[in-house]
Amino acid sequence: MFRGITISLLLCWIPASAGQLCNLTGMWLNDLGSALQIYPSSTTDIQGSFTSVVKLGERGPGSPLKGRVSGVMSSGPLPTFGFSVSWEKGSTTSWVGQCFPLMDGHPGHQMLKTLWLLRSPAEASEDIWQSTRIGEDTFYKVPDTM
Ligand SMILES: *[C@@H]1O[C@H](CO)[C@@H](O)[C@H](O)[C@H]1NC(C)=O
Repeated sequence: MFRGITISLLLCWIPASAGQLCNLTGMWLNDLGSALQIYPSSTTDIQGSFTSVVKLGERGPGSPLKGRVSGVMSSGPLPTFGFSVSWEKGSTTSWVGQCFPLMDGHPGHQMLKTLWLLRSPAEASEDIWQSTRIGEDTFYKVPDTM
């Protein structure tokens, strides 16, 4: 109980940039093998690229789909974020989530716990009831090789 309170107080007192426990910049992979690359840019904006190996209506990896990632993130030790990709065929996916360190004893091992919505284009507004899918994604950071 006391320990929890102490940790919470410590987290509040750490200045946003100095005490960051989780850092979105870098390469991330999800369970399906899709790759999310977040470039170093500002502390509030997310720029990057997303390579998906799964496609709507296809089971298992097909030829990869690539998209530009654009989003925002919060400050703080465990930043929350939202980012979107718009795909060639006219669909758009948005993710929201939060960055957490993995408690496996390896500093730098981190994960992104996210939820996504995928909107496919409808021919007409009457068809939108079947146009949105929802899912969960966990991304794991690929450690720096240098
Ligand atoms: C953030 O993570 C990237 C990739 O792992 C690393 O290169 C960079 O030094 C880290 N930045 C900070 C401020 O820790």
